[in-house]
Amino acid sequence: MEGKKLAATLQVQLIEKVKTLKTTPSLCVILIGEDPASKIYVAHKQKACQAVGIAVQLIKLPSTTSESVLLSRIDELNQDDSQHGILVQLPLPKSINTLTILKKINPHKDVDGFHPINIGLLAQGQPHFQPCTPLGILQLIDHYDIPVKGKHAVIVGASLIVGKPMALQLLDRDATVSICHKETKNLATMVAQADILVSAVGIPNLIKGDWIKPGSALFDVGITRLKDNTIAGDIEFTKAKEKATWITPVPGGVGPMTVAMLMRNTVMACENTYSLEANTHR
Ligand code: GUN
Repeated sequence: MEGKKLAATLQVQLIEKVKTLKTTPSLCVILIGEDPASKIYVAHKQKACQAVGIAVQLIKLPSTTSESVLLSRIDELNQDDSQHGILVQLPLPKSINTLTILKKINPHKDVDGFHPINIGLLAQGQPHFQPCTPLGILQLIDHYDIPVKGKHAVIVGASLIVGKPMALQLLDRDATVSICHKETKNLATMVAQADILVSAVGIPNLIKGDWIKPGSALFDVGITRLKDNTIAGDIEFTKAKEKATWITPVPGGVGPMTVAMLMRNTVMACENTYSLEANTHR
């Protein structure tokens, strides 16, 4: 599956949409510390904003930043009507409680969809802002017409960023969902049952090619830089490709879709259509 190509198509659609808006959408990205991968992801997000016509502001803070300083920065952004979207890049330094921070972001500006209210709306089947990576995978599922109803979807990794929201979204589309994690016994047996497999662990080649169910759809969220400076996903790509009908490459698969969905959520934040009662954005 060509995530990069689909993301580019969606980006063109967003550029046109932004031109029709009365206000320029804006996104504030907070980056704490010097994590090399986070710096790269944030750079991709900034570049996409510039391409789409979203005003992007980067707030860089040192890894020694206290939780209370970060909370008050978020508070300022919450109050600032000129800021439509707020994103705190994860992971945070260990001294900061991630859930405390995510809870502070105004749910109407929560373009990552990690606030308890937005996760709750998703769990109720009434989503507004949805986490960008699983939302990007849903776009790929729709684009490639991959059947979901009644299929067995196996998710490897139970994170708030990918695994848990992905499970809710696929359940909402009538898949039978299994979530695997680091305590799961017999991962091979679980993976072998998967019509749809989403792996978001970050262990290179954890999922062996000979575990894959013939005809399945494979979504690889893992991105690990190896010692030789190449990038590897969670799935043994070359072998898995022989068995699967659909597979995302790493890089160029799910990653660009995540960024495209962040752009979409930011435009939604600008449109200010947030309602706790009636949510039409799916
Ligand atoms: N770190 C890895 N993925 C994400 C994401 O989607 N959002 C944020 N804020 N941090 C991340």
